[in-house]
Amino acid sequence: PLVSGAEVVLAAAKDGRGVGAFNVIQLEHATALIAGAEQVGAPVILQISENAVKYHGALKPIAVATLAAAAAAEVPVVVHLDHAMDRDLVTEAVGLGFTSVMFDASKLDYADNVAATTEVTAFCHDHGVFVEAEIGEVGGKDGVHAPGARTRPDEALAFAEATGVDALAVAVGSSHAMTERTAELDFELIGRLRSAVPVPLVLHGSSGVADADLTRAVEAGMTKVNIATHLNNVFTGKVREILADQPNLVDTRKYLGPARTAVAAEVARLLTLLKAV
Ligand code: G3H
Ligand code: ZN
Repeated sequence: PLVSGAEVVLAAAKDGRGVGAFNVIQLEHATALIAGAEQVGAPVILQISENAVKYHGALKPIAVATLAAAAAAEVPVVVHLDHAMDRDLVTEAVGLGFTSVMFDASKLDYADNVAATTEVTAFCHDHGVFVEAEIGEVGGKDGVHAPGARTRPDEALAFAEATGVDALAVAVGSSHAMTERTAELDFELIGRLRSAVPVPLVLHGSSGVADADLTRAVEAGMTKVNIATHLNNVFTGKVREILADQPNLVDTRKYLGPARTAVAAEVARLLTLLKAV
Protein backbone atom coordinates (compact mmCIF):
# COMPACT_ATOMS: atom_id res chain seq x y z
CA PRO A 1 0.00 0.00 0.00
CA LEU A 2 0.85 3.69 -0.23
CA VAL A 3 2.02 4.85 3.19
CA SER A 4 3.28 8.06 4.77
CA GLY A 5 6.93 9.02 4.64
CA ALA A 6 6.90 9.43 8.40
CA GLU A 7 5.77 5.85 8.96
CA VAL A 8 8.63 4.35 6.96
CA VAL A 9 11.52 6.75 7.61
CA LEU A 10 10.98 7.40 11.34
CA ALA A 11 10.55 3.70 12.12
CA ALA A 12 13.73 2.83 10.20
CA ALA A 13 15.73 5.58 11.95
CA LYS A 14 14.52 4.37 15.33
CA ASP A 15 15.54 0.77 14.57
CA GLY A 16 18.84 1.64 12.82
CA ARG A 17 17.62 0.29 9.50
CA GLY A 18 18.18 1.95 6.14
CA VAL A 19 15.46 2.81 3.65
CA GLY A 20 16.11 2.53 -0.08
CA ALA A 21 14.88 5.48 -2.11
CA PHE A 22 15.03 4.86 -5.84
CA ASN A 23 14.09 7.09 -8.75
CA VAL A 24 11.23 6.53 -11.15
CA ILE A 25 11.56 7.82 -14.67
CA GLN A 26 9.34 5.41 -16.58
CA LEU A 27 6.58 3.12 -15.36
CA GLU A 28 8.99 0.17 -15.65
CA HIS A 29 11.10 1.73 -12.90
CA ALA A 30 8.12 1.91 -10.54
CA THR A 31 7.11 -1.70 -11.10
CA ALA A 32 10.73 -2.93 -10.90
CA LEU A 33 11.37 -1.11 -7.60
CA ILE A 34 8.21 -2.51 -6.05
CA ALA A 35 8.98 -6.03 -7.31
CA GLY A 36 12.47 -5.84 -5.77
CA ALA A 37 11.09 -4.62 -2.44
CA GLU A 38 8.50 -7.39 -2.46
CA GLN A 39 11.22 -10.00 -3.04
CA VAL A 40 12.77 -9.13 0.33
CA GLY A 41 9.67 -7.84 2.13
CA ALA A 42 11.07 -4.34 2.72
CA PRO A 43 9.36 -0.96 2.53
CA VAL A 44 10.60 1.25 -0.28
CA ILE A 45 10.53 4.88 -1.40
CA LEU A 46 9.71 5.62 -5.04
CA GLN A 47 10.86 9.10 -5.93
CA ILE A 48 10.10 11.31 -8.90
CA SER A 49 12.50 14.20 -9.37
CA GLU A 50 11.81 17.64 -10.76
CA ASN A 51 14.17 16.67 -13.58
CA ALA A 52 12.02 13.61 -14.39
CA VAL A 53 8.96 15.88 -14.45
CA LYS A 54 10.77 18.14 -16.94
CA TYR A 55 11.52 15.07 -19.07
CA HIS A 56 7.84 14.07 -19.17
CA GLY A 57 6.65 17.67 -19.53
CA ALA A 58 4.23 17.17 -16.62
CA LEU A 59 4.04 15.55 -13.20
CA LYS A 60 0.59 14.04 -13.28
CA PRO A 61 0.86 11.12 -15.75
CA ILE A 62 3.95 9.48 -14.22
CA ALA A 63 2.79 10.39 -10.70
CA VAL A 64 -0.65 8.84 -11.08
CA ALA A 65 0.89 5.66 -12.51
CA THR A 66 3.43 5.48 -9.68
CA LEU A 67 0.80 6.15 -7.00
CA ALA A 68 -1.41 3.40 -8.47
CA ALA A 69 1.50 0.94 -8.48
CA ALA A 70 2.25 1.88 -4.86
CA ALA A 71 -1.36 1.36 -3.80
CA ALA A 72 -1.32 -2.16 -5.29
CA ALA A 73 2.03 -3.17 -3.71
CA GLU A 74 2.36 -5.89 -1.08
CA VAL A 75 4.95 -3.82 0.83
CA PRO A 76 4.70 -0.28 2.27
CA VAL A 77 5.55 2.23 -0.46
CA VAL A 78 6.21 5.97 -0.05
CA VAL A 79 5.83 8.16 -3.13
CA HIS A 80 8.23 11.08 -2.81
CA LEU A 81 8.90 14.21 -4.86
CA ASP A 82 12.71 14.42 -5.25
CA HIS A 83 14.81 17.60 -5.53
CA ALA A 84 11.92 20.00 -6.03
CA MET A 85 13.05 23.59 -6.34
CA ASP A 86 9.69 24.77 -7.72
CA ARG A 87 7.11 25.41 -4.99
CA ASP A 88 4.21 25.00 -7.42
CA LEU A 89 5.44 21.49 -8.12
CA VAL A 90 5.37 20.75 -4.37
CA THR A 91 1.77 22.00 -4.21
CA GLU A 92 0.81 19.84 -7.17
CA ALA A 93 2.50 16.73 -5.72
CA VAL A 94 0.75 17.19 -2.37
CA GLY A 95 -2.56 17.55 -4.22
CA LEU A 96 -1.92 14.34 -6.16
CA GLY A 97 -1.32 12.36 -2.95
CA PHE A 98 2.46 12.16 -2.63
CA THR A 99 3.31 11.15 0.93
CA SER A 100 6.75 12.78 1.06
CA VAL A 101 8.50 15.75 -0.54
CA MET A 102 12.07 16.94 -0.81
CA PHE A 103 12.25 20.70 -1.11
CA ASP A 104 15.74 21.50 -2.32
CA ALA A 105 16.78 25.09 -1.74
CA SER A 106 20.39 24.03 -1.14
CA LYS A 107 21.62 26.30 -3.92
CA LEU A 108 20.42 29.33 -1.92
CA ASP A 109 22.50 30.83 0.85
CA TYR A 110 21.79 29.63 4.39
CA ALA A 111 19.26 32.31 5.41
CA ASP A 112 17.27 32.07 2.17
CA ASN A 113 17.34 28.25 2.33
CA VAL A 114 15.91 28.43 5.89
CA ALA A 115 13.20 30.93 4.93
CA ALA A 116 12.02 29.04 1.83
CA THR A 117 12.21 25.61 3.48
CA THR A 118 10.28 26.79 6.57
CA GLU A 119 7.38 27.99 4.40
CA VAL A 120 7.21 24.84 2.29
CA THR A 121 7.50 22.63 5.38
CA ALA A 122 4.55 24.36 7.06
CA PHE A 123 2.45 23.87 3.92
CA CYS A 124 3.36 20.17 3.67
CA HIS A 125 2.73 19.56 7.37
CA ASP A 126 -0.74 21.12 7.01
CA HIS A 127 -1.39 18.32 4.52
CA GLY A 128 0.24 15.54 6.52
CA VAL A 129 3.17 15.23 4.12
CA PHE A 130 6.71 14.34 5.26
CA VAL A 131 9.40 16.86 4.27
CA GLU A 132 13.08 16.42 3.46
CA ALA A 133 15.40 19.35 2.81
CA GLU A 134 19.10 19.72 2.04
CA ILE A 135 21.86 21.62 3.75
CA GLY A 136 25.38 21.76 2.29
CA GLU A 137 24.80 21.10 -1.40
CA VAL A 138 25.68 17.49 -2.34
CA GLY A 139 26.57 18.57 -5.89
CA GLY A 140 26.86 16.73 -9.16
CA LYS A 141 23.31 17.42 -10.32
CA ASP A 142 24.54 19.64 -13.13
CA GLY A 143 26.87 16.96 -14.37
CA VAL A 144 29.67 18.38 -12.23
CA HIS A 145 31.36 15.87 -9.96
CA ALA A 146 31.60 17.82 -6.69
CA PRO A 147 32.40 15.42 -3.85
CA GLY A 148 34.09 18.12 -1.72
CA ALA A 149 31.01 19.61 -0.04
CA ARG A 150 30.49 18.87 3.66
CA THR A 151 27.60 19.69 5.99
CA ARG A 152 28.55 21.17 9.36
CA PRO A 153 26.80 19.45 12.30
CA ASP A 154 26.08 22.73 14.14
CA GLU A 155 24.55 24.24 10.99
CA ALA A 156 22.55 21.05 10.32
CA LEU A 157 21.08 21.16 13.83
CA ALA A 158 20.23 24.88 13.54
CA PHE A 159 18.65 24.28 10.11
CA ALA A 160 16.53 21.35 11.30
CA GLU A 161 15.31 23.32 14.32
CA ALA A 162 14.61 26.51 12.36
CA THR A 163 12.71 24.86 9.52
CA GLY A 164 10.88 21.98 11.22
CA VAL A 165 11.85 19.53 8.46
CA ASP A 166 11.34 15.80 9.06
CA ALA A 167 14.54 14.55 7.38
CA LEU A 168 17.77 16.17 6.33
CA ALA A 169 19.96 15.55 3.29
CA VAL A 170 23.60 16.12 4.20
CA ALA A 171 26.84 16.29 2.23
CA VAL A 172 29.26 13.65 3.53
CA GLY A 173 31.40 12.78 0.52
CA SER A 174 29.00 11.45 -2.10
CA SER A 175 28.17 13.22 -5.33
CA HIS A 176 25.29 12.83 -7.77
CA ALA A 177 25.40 10.79 -10.98
CA MET A 178 28.63 8.86 -10.42
CA THR A 179 28.97 5.84 -12.70
CA GLU A 180 31.90 4.37 -10.76
CA ARG A 181 31.31 3.30 -7.17
CA THR A 182 34.38 5.08 -5.80
CA ALA A 183 32.94 7.73 -3.46
CA GLU A 184 34.80 8.11 -0.19
CA LEU A 185 32.28 8.74 2.55
CA ASP A 186 33.24 10.58 5.71
CA PHE A 187 31.91 8.08 8.26
CA GLU A 188 33.22 10.09 11.18
CA LEU A 189 31.18 13.09 9.99
CA ILE A 190 28.09 10.88 9.54
CA GLY A 191 28.44 9.84 13.18
CA ARG A 192 28.78 13.45 14.34
CA LEU A 193 25.77 14.52 12.27
CA ARG A 194 23.74 11.62 13.64
CA SER A 195 24.53 12.71 17.21
CA ALA A 196 23.88 16.39 16.50
CA VAL A 197 20.69 16.24 14.42
CA PRO A 198 17.38 14.93 15.79
CA VAL A 199 15.80 14.07 12.42
CA PRO A 200 16.72 11.13 10.10
CA LEU A 201 19.61 11.78 7.71
CA VAL A 202 19.48 11.29 3.94
CA LEU A 203 22.37 10.22 1.73
CA HIS A 204 22.13 11.51 -1.85
CA GLY A 205 24.22 10.41 -4.79
CA SER A 206 24.58 6.90 -3.38
CA SER A 207 25.21 5.34 -6.80
CA GLY A 208 28.86 6.19 -6.25
CA VAL A 209 28.99 4.28 -2.96
CA ALA A 210 30.37 0.72 -2.96
CA ASP A 211 28.37 -2.19 -1.50
CA ALA A 212 30.20 -2.42 1.82
CA ASP A 213 30.09 1.35 2.33
CA LEU A 214 26.30 1.41 1.86
CA THR A 215 26.00 -0.88 4.87
CA ARG A 216 28.60 1.11 6.79
CA ALA A 217 26.79 4.38 6.04
CA VAL A 218 23.58 3.00 7.56
CA GLU A 219 25.48 1.67 10.56
CA ALA A 220 27.11 5.09 10.99
CA GLY A 221 23.73 6.84 11.04
CA MET A 222 22.27 7.43 7.58
CA THR A 223 18.62 6.37 7.14
CA LYS A 224 17.23 7.24 3.68
CA VAL A 225 19.66 6.24 0.94
CA ASN A 226 18.98 7.63 -2.56
CA ILE A 227 20.12 5.56 -5.53
CA ALA A 228 19.26 6.42 -9.12
CA THR A 229 22.15 6.34 -11.60
CA HIS A 230 23.29 2.86 -10.56
CA LEU A 231 19.88 1.36 -11.35
CA ASN A 232 19.76 3.19 -14.67
CA ASN A 233 23.09 1.59 -15.38
CA VAL A 234 21.63 -1.86 -14.62
CA PHE A 235 18.51 -1.12 -16.70
CA THR A 236 20.37 0.25 -19.71
CA GLY A 237 23.06 -2.42 -19.49
CA LYS A 238 20.42 -5.13 -19.91
CA VAL A 239 18.75 -3.28 -22.81
CA ARG A 240 22.13 -2.84 -24.49
CA GLU A 241 22.97 -6.53 -24.06
CA ILE A 242 19.66 -7.71 -25.53
CA LEU A 243 19.71 -5.32 -28.49
CA ALA A 244 23.30 -6.26 -29.28
CA ASP A 245 22.34 -9.95 -29.29
CA GLN A 246 19.14 -9.44 -31.26
CA PRO A 247 19.55 -6.53 -33.69
CA ASN A 248 16.19 -7.28 -35.37
CA LEU A 249 14.12 -7.01 -32.19
CA VAL A 250 11.35 -4.38 -32.36
CA ASP A 251 8.85 -5.21 -29.59
CA THR A 252 9.78 -2.87 -26.70
CA ARG A 253 8.48 -5.39 -24.16
CA LYS A 254 11.21 -7.85 -25.22
CA TYR A 255 13.97 -5.62 -23.87
CA LEU A 256 12.17 -3.45 -21.27
CA GLY A 257 10.77 -6.56 -19.53
CA PRO A 258 14.19 -8.18 -18.90
CA ALA A 259 15.61 -4.77 -17.90
CA ARG A 260 12.81 -4.44 -15.36
CA THR A 261 13.59 -7.92 -13.99
CA ALA A 262 17.30 -7.04 -13.68
CA VAL A 263 16.50 -3.82 -11.79
CA ALA A 264 14.16 -5.69 -9.42
CA ALA A 265 16.91 -8.18 -8.54
CA GLU A 266 19.42 -5.39 -7.92
CA VAL A 267 16.91 -3.51 -5.74
CA ALA A 268 16.40 -6.64 -3.64
CA ARG A 269 20.17 -6.92 -3.21
CA LEU A 270 20.60 -3.22 -2.35
CA LEU A 271 17.78 -3.30 0.21
CA THR A 272 19.54 -6.18 1.95
CA LEU A 273 22.82 -4.21 2.01
CA LEU A 274 20.94 -1.23 3.45
CA LYS A 275 19.49 -3.39 6.25
CA ALA A 276 16.06 -2.27 5.04
CA VAL A 277 14.19 -5.42 6.05
O1 G3H B 1 18.05 12.29 -5.34
C1 G3H B 1 18.50 11.31 -5.99
C2 G3H B 1 19.75 10.70 -5.63
O2 G3H B 1 20.53 11.49 -4.83
C3 G3H B 1 20.39 9.80 -6.63
O3 G3H B 1 21.72 10.09 -6.97
O4 G3H B 1 21.87 9.11 -9.25
O5 G3H B 1 23.89 9.62 -7.94
O6 G3H B 1 22.41 7.74 -7.25
P1 G3H B 1 22.53 9.08 -7.91
ZN1 ZN C 1 19.81 13.63 -4.84
